[in-house]
Amino acid sequence: MTNTFLRWWGCGAFDVILGDVNFAFDPYLFGENLKNAEPIYDYIFITHEHFDHCHPQTLKKLCSGERFKKLFVNPGCITPAQPIDKNYGDAAFERDLPITKHVPAEKVQILYPKHLNESQGLDRNFSGPSEITLGPIHVETIESGENQHPELPTCGYLVTHKEKNISFLHTGDLHAPYPALENIKGRIDFLIHMKLGLIDGGGANLSPGLVKLIDLVKPRFLIPTHYRTDRISDPIPEGHWPPNVTDVMAFIEWIRQTVGNKVEVLPFTAGVEYELEMPAKRVLWKWNWFNTWTVPPWREG
Ligand SMILES: [Fe+2]
Repeated sequence: MTNTFLRWWGCGAFDVILGDVNFAFDPYLFGENLKNAEPIYDYIFITHEHFDHCHPQTLKKLCSGERFKKLFVNPGCITPAQPIDKNYGDAAFERDLPITKHVPAEKVQILYPKHLNESQGLDRNFSGPSEITLGPIHVETIESGENQHPELPTCGYLVTHKEKNISFLHTGDLHAPYPALENIKGRIDFLIHMKLGLIDGGGANLSPGLVKLIDLVKPRFLIPTHYRTDRISDPIPEGHWPPNVTDVMAFIEWIRQTVGNKVEVLPFTAGVEYELEMPAKRVLWKWNWFNTWTVPPWREG
């Protein structure tokens, strides 16, 4: 079985290269990364219509070519709350939405959440699909967070490759777990984790929510994303949203300490492609060391 390749691109952007099928969640690229981006994905999944998740410049490049088949979005990407600028403030822009201004409408499909957050209402009936089979993968949705209103829900995506026995849950900007997530318990290898586990801007510790989420869905691995540093190597421009953390090592260890032995934490660095040995799903960690000089600076002449 060919190996799998995973990459966190910064923010909520994450891609999965399985070989027979490749897909990306919330791709959001800039500068050289955007310039060098190739349309290597069969499917792209967008969790919500905010600018840092539904990014026209990136989508215009990736939703093209021979391989690309479909862009799946939550309803707000197509029918955003109007007027956009008034409703969303800085979170979404008239220039970006609906996304069919930038990607041909026949290449875009709305998915609605299947597993609903009761705080938004359990009696909502949406008029479209909440799961779909795409060749070797099956896609099932959960409700995410940051809904503009209950009728414009956001989506998290559970993508399962049955034959390869591997699955991914990208939660979108989920800020709080809810009971219906138990419906997908034990069906997730890789939880691509977003907002929970952070300390929010006001200083509240959101990590109890992360523990609750882990208990509800019981993933095998946890990949923390949607945080950044101001390292020059990070693929998101300096000073840009999402939140900076002051000490990445401490942040990761804080998460590890919080979840204990419930799940294995995989500390991915943004922009680096990680290889998974299949079928074991074991990360082949690669690193090296190098000298920053060849002649010691104290040597004269
Ligand atoms: Fe976000």
